[in-house]
Amino acid sequence: MKRVAILISGSGSNMVALARSMTGDHPARPVLVASNDPAAAGLGKAAAMGIATAAVDHRAFGGDRAAFEAALLAPLLAARPDIVCLAGFMRILTAGFVQRFAGRMLNIHPSLLPRYPGLDTHRRALEAGDAEAGCTVHEVTPALDAGPILGQARVPILPGDTPQTLAARVLVQEHRLYPAVLRRFVAGDRRPLLLPAAAET
Ligand code: GAR
Repeated sequence: MKRVAILISGSGSNMVALARSMTGDHPARPVLVASNDPAAAGLGKAAAMGIATAAVDHRAFGGDRAAFEAALLAPLLAARPDIVCLAGFMRILTAGFVQRFAGRMLNIHPSLLPRYPGLDTHRRALEAGDAEAGCTVHEVTPALDAGPILGQARVPILPGDTPQTLAARVLVQEHRLYPAVLRRFVAGDRRPLLLPAAAET
């Protein structure tokens, strides 16, 4: 059984989707949900699901990324994860941290990478006049949002969309895509999973 740690910063809806998927004959289990924000709503959701949690407040380190990461590593390494999933984790990680988990750290990003790495993806897609948007699960490498793509799901951009309505439509697909990619990844399958647009979009 593979051990999966999940890093979050906020509501943790992707974390919940991942954790819910890791039951029954799934070859992995969630062993830790950790956050850089002690107030992240996802921590309570994880605890309610019986998953161990940890919070390491990045603000206590005054911009010293290496010191924050050293503190985050303590509970993370103690959980002995085989795989680390970033799920709405909003801190940029140093190369040193990423290298520790090389080849076994995943991230979900709310755009069709390589378009729109970084923040404000939905506003940027709307401003560009794109006809579609989506989400990407990729392997984490030191370059931001640029690691090998493990899966993508697409949604149409509709007339009248705002960043909020588009984000909500993409989030539904994030909850389909991330568990599907993780299941394949745990089984050693790194071929990109390209999900067709779902009926509900
Ligand atoms: C998700 O849309 C995720 O793709 C995005 O944050 C949201 C977290 O929601 N991640 C990033 O923007 C990473 N740069 P959640 O906490 O409900 O899963």
